[in-house]
Amino acid sequence: MSLSNNTYGFDRPFEPDPLAQRALPYLKEKLNLVDIGCGEGADSVFFAQQGLEVTALDNNNESLNRLKSYADDHGFSKITLENCNIIDYNYLKNYFDAASCLLVGCCMRRSEFEKMLQSVKATLKPNGIMIMSLRNYLDPTFVEYASSLDPIEPNTYYKPDDCCEIRYYIEKGRLKEVFHDFEVLYYFEGLAPDKYREVEEHGDSYIICRKIET
Ligand SMILES: C[S@@+](CC[C@H](N)C(=O)[O-])C[C@H]1O[C@@H](n2cnc3c(N)ncnc32)[C@H](O)[C@@H]1O
Repeated sequence: MSLSNNTYGFDRPFEPDPLAQRALPYLKEKLNLVDIGCGEGADSVFFAQQGLEVTALDNNNESLNRLKSYADDHGFSKITLENCNIIDYNYLKNYFDAASCLLVGCCMRRSEFEKMLQSVKATLKPNGIMIMSLRNYLDPTFVEYASSLDPIEPNTYYKPDDCCEIRYYIEKGRLKEVFHDFEVLYYFEGLAPDKYREVEEHGDSYIICRKIET
């Protein structure tokens, strides 16, 4: 059965994020990965296919159920699903070889993103790989919201009709700054095609970086 098969009711194209694919060379010999805000889990499945043991975290029951059905039917025994709040989840220290957090920090308040970051950085083992993407200040919706709405926090807007309700747009240079104590392996900040092909382009910040051994 192919990955594009939609027997499971996936909302989005069930295919790995380009940043997940770009991270592959850095994941050789890594054993476990936490997919934070996994959504429907296309990246969790992709990482599991590479042999990683994946812990997939989200609080959207429907997405997790679809992923569970897909993983059960396709024999992905190496994916563990947890329905939880990723902001105050009990991330074990020095536990994961890799963490992915793709288009998730932009679905919460800035303060929540900053709080989550501390635990996510700490859950990586030395030499652990972080793979992260967020919408940024260049995004056309940020430009629109900033001109019509009052922010609820810096760069953060409440938009009840948006799929995430709360949108944080990371500031210029900020993603590199928050990982200043990691070795940067790949960084991008600019306009990039929408991975779901729903609109032409987004303002995005991407990072792949390695936790430095101390
Ligand atoms: C835009 S989707 C991205 C999903 C997936 N990473 C991807 O790239 O396809 C954001 C995901 O983060 C999850 N999420 C946002 N805030 C969360 C929270 N506080 N706790 C758990 N999951 C959360 C949402 O349920 C949603 O599935």
